Amino acid sequence: LVAGVDSSTQSCKVVVRDADTGALVRQGRAAHPTGTEVHPSEWWDALQTAIADAGGLDDVDAVSVGAQQHGMVTLDAAGEVVRPALLWNDTRSAAAAADLTTELGGPDKWAEAIGSVPVASLTVTKLRWLAKHEPESVARTAAVCLPHDWLTWKLSGGTSLDALTTDRSDASGTGYWSPSTEDYRPDLLELALGKVVALPRVLGPAELIGRFGAGAGDNAAAGLGVQAQPGDVVVSIGTSGTAFARSPHPVADGTGIVNGFADAEGGHLPLVCTLNASRVLDATSAMLRVDLAELSDLALSAPAGADGLVFVPYLEGERTPNKPDSTGALHGLRLDTMTSAHMARAAVEGLLCSLADAIDALVALGLPVSRVLLIGGAARMPAVQRLAPAVFGCPVVVPSPSEYVADGAARQAAWALSGADAPPLWSELASTSVEAEPTPWVRDRYASVRELTATR
Ligand code: XUL
Repeated sequence: LVAGVDSSTQSCKVVVRDADTGALVRQGRAAHPTGTEVHPSEWWDALQTAIADAGGLDDVDAVSVGAQQHGMVTLDAAGEVVRPALLWNDTRSAAAAADLTTELGGPDKWAEAIGSVPVASLTVTKLRWLAKHEPESVARTAAVCLPHDWLTWKLSGGTSLDALTTDRSDASGTGYWSPSTEDYRPDLLELALGKVVALPRVLGPAELIGRFGAGAGDNAAAGLGVQAQPGDVVVSIGTSGTAFARSPHPVADGTGIVNGFADAEGGHLPLVCTLNASRVLDATSAMLRVDLAELSDLALSAPAGADGLVFVPYLEGERTPNKPDSTGALHGLRLDTMTSAHMARAAVEGLLCSLADAIDALVALGLPVSRVLLIGGAARMPAVQRLAPAVFGCPVVVPSPSEYVADGAARQAAWALSGADAPPLWSELASTSVEAEPTPWVRDRYASVRELTATR
């Protein structure tokens, strides 16, 4: 048996699967506090509860942990957490990102060094924020790691900082590890933090230490979980929105839109991330005082393009485009468009248009898109499924509800256990294919309103 963990922004999930067939044996889950700053002990407590809910891991041969990317976990020399972790969705380090970009000589220098241009999500910018605002925390910090590294270390009973490990995919989201040379860049860590500290050892994708696999960042783990193939773009609509595709070679984007991350299979995973995803639908349903099922019905009852009502969903600042201080916009209000149905339609279309911008950025780098695999909590909404192929302009496949991140981690554990060259091919996930007539004019209108939104 193998187990996979998904410690996400909202909760912790554990799946136990048969290593050979991938059949689900049992699973468990537990919620933990959400927000942009969370003490890692909350993740540990939720993981313990989720493991117990899944019937324990005593009979499991290998375990891998997937978790939210980028979170800054600081440890002192005794291995104690120095301060609550700053998460990927915390934008307080936006000014630090801009400063670091200038100090290294501009965005192209960063793209060359680490495949990405710093934005507030990347760990390196959080370290600069810490150096500027909490020198006393920096003085205590002896090691920096990521959520999945810390949980793997705790699970394996680690106490010494030397036992910390990570994987290529998560290391590539720190801002001080290069996916093209596969080495840390201590100079960039020092530029941000003012000193060099201990960092986790980067394991290969199928390496096993004791019974623990290398683990992965959640997006790379989801790529493994849906068994994404070249030509597939995975679009995930969870707390974050992401669009990513596998690439055999490293990708570097000096415009800063695409992050040139590594994947969890030894290759690369260019990824575009938006900050405003499922919460756009949650906030709209709360405002309209309907539940998500009603929101979906309302959206489908309005015409394509919502009679010109356009909603740009930058409700919490945005990362793609990189406008951390931007706000959303609602444009095209008239007496006849001021209805719940028009608002619901505009929200679903606006969310999908922002993700279509993300897909476009991958296409602009020459990545082929033959179909979109749509995953994440909001992918379950009928209106999202029906409108996605119209807005994206390509076929969309929705895999059946499943814990893609935890499944991907479990598949990695099975791979590590097998000693094979490639991860096992578990049976095809059941899925629904959706096609629709493209509606490029919906995107054109969205694009003109997007240009009106506040810049930083
Ligand atoms: C990716 C990113 C998010 C988190 C969500 O760069 O910041 O997708 O990984 O957990």
